[in-house]
Amino acid sequence: MSATEDARSAVGGGDPVQQARRRRTFAVISHPDAGKSTLTEALALHARVLSEAGAVHGKAGRRGVVSDWLAMERARGISITSAALQFGYDDCVINLLDTPGHADFSEDTYRVLSAVDSAVMLLDAAKGLEPQTLKLFDVCRHRGIPVITFINKWDRPGRAALELCDELSERIGLSPMPLTWPVGEAGHFRGVLDREAGGFVGYERQAGGAQLAAQQRLSAEQAAAEIGAEWQQAVEESELLSADGADLDIAAFNEASATPVLFGSAVRNFGVGQLLDVLVRLAPQPGPRADVRGKSRPLEAPFSAFVFKVQTGMDPAHRDRVAFARVCSGEFERGMVVTHAATGRPFATKYAQQVFGRQRDTVETAYPGDVVGLVNASALGVGDTLYAGKPAVEFPGMPSFAPEHFAVARTSDPGRAKQFRRGIEQLSQEGVVQVLHSQTRGEGAPVLAAVGPMQFDVATHRMESEFRAPIELERLPYRVVRLVGDESQRPRLQTRTSEVFDRPDGSALAAFTDDIALRSLIRLHPELDLRHVVADAE
Ligand code: G4P
Repeated sequence: MSATEDARSAVGGGDPVQQARRRRTFAVISHPDAGKSTLTEALALHARVLSEAGAVHGKAGRRGVVSDWLAMERARGISITSAALQFGYDDCVINLLDTPGHADFSEDTYRVLSAVDSAVMLLDAAKGLEPQTLKLFDVCRHRGIPVITFINKWDRPGRAALELCDELSERIGLSPMPLTWPVGEAGHFRGVLDREAGGFVGYERQAGGAQLAAQQRLSAEQAAAEIGAEWQQAVEESELLSADGADLDIAAFNEASATPVLFGSAVRNFGVGQLLDVLVRLAPQPGPRADVRGKSRPLEAPFSAFVFKVQTGMDPAHRDRVAFARVCSGEFERGMVVTHAATGRPFATKYAQQVFGRQRDTVETAYPGDVVGLVNASALGVGDTLYAGKPAVEFPGMPSFAPEHFAVARTSDPGRAKQFRRGIEQLSQEGVVQVLHSQTRGEGAPVLAAVGPMQFDVATHRMESEFRAPIELERLPYRVVRLVGDESQRPRLQTRTSEVFDRPDGSALAAFTDDIALRSLIRLHPELDLRHVVADAE
């Protein structure tokens, strides 16, 4: 069997529609420390991709699953890059897209959500909804992405299950539909009641999560006899949930108005298999994607994909540039020559890779929902479309998100003005930072805008190391933005606490120091036409 045939049999060769049916492409959204890396590893372990869990535990010695290409990234022990982990489970192919999860997170984290069909919202049982989870959830809601909730760390003391469920409906308007229900409080965890199949799944402490936990299953009668009061309480609470309408409603999940909820412990591998089962059973498969004209590209159409992430300098030994593209239709075969929609130029896919952490495998074939890393992709930018054959297709560009950090960039070496301009343009195209212009500050002083301040560090580092055009950043005090709906109102938006910038797409963005500044200006000029910036490319 050739390498190509080998790879085809692993992912399943042939019909893109059938292959799409087998795909589940999702990301985990969570606040730092909720256990995303641990869960990622546990999922992969369950699917037996990794031979041993434990490789990524501990921030300092983390390796393997979490990407650590850039020197800066290594120094901080965090993940800046995003890529995808693919594994088989049941008869499905699961694509887990990595969302960088540091407190300083960036637009990359958001962009990954444009390439998934569902999300797993991971909560720490002691903390519930946390700020970063809320931000990411907002993006899911805006895009209509169905969300499965996994309440983690149930092996140790935390909040009551009912309270956590109430928080979901009260704070974010997402109706909880618990599929399992904990028996015994967090910290004295006995296992879960399986609300769909009935019966009890026992939790056993496992050392370090290095192996799959053997799970004891009992019928309801056995559980009542063996566990007693704690089981009885779980049964009563579960009945209350049913009376409240908290049973599984697949339509509500698909509409993203309700979320299936599971309780577990990623580090103990408890509930992880159930999560995979739910993904396979309930999570949506890739569907036809709408192009810029709103017309859906059928799954069986020739190959098409869009770039959701561009990463440079992943491998210091080879100054390469990898564009991560999500396949939308057809079959991808390594070596095929595709068209880059933005330029109409051909692009050869000889070096296609699947990249996750340090692991790089050559991709031979890919189907809708899969992610391919295209190496030497110097012409490709975030949001670009690639397609094969005819008809031509172009998917909507990548949304840009409301920036919360601003800085004026100046070259610290006037002799490198040309490199400075080129570098800034390149960073803008790649989506490393948003590049804005100010009519008052002039062309030589572009304003960099970012969702997370770490994007500035990446920009500074790249300007110096790659373009040899070191920059100085002067931070601006703005935190809140709105789109300017009426150009003639610009002068009213130039105040001591606000400023207007031009975006590359020609629109104008008003930035304010804070909510108070925004509100008082609106009070002064109620006629101001200001709009929210959320994923506005779509
Ligand atoms: P993150 O990627 O979301 O930032 O979280 P990560 O997986 O790094 O997990 C954060 C911490 O929470 C880790 O502890 C991890 O071991 C712990 N953790 C993850 N899942 C569970 C769970 O189900 N139960 C309990 N009790 N802890 C969990 P750490 O102190 O940072 O590292 P380590 O010293 O435990 O290795």
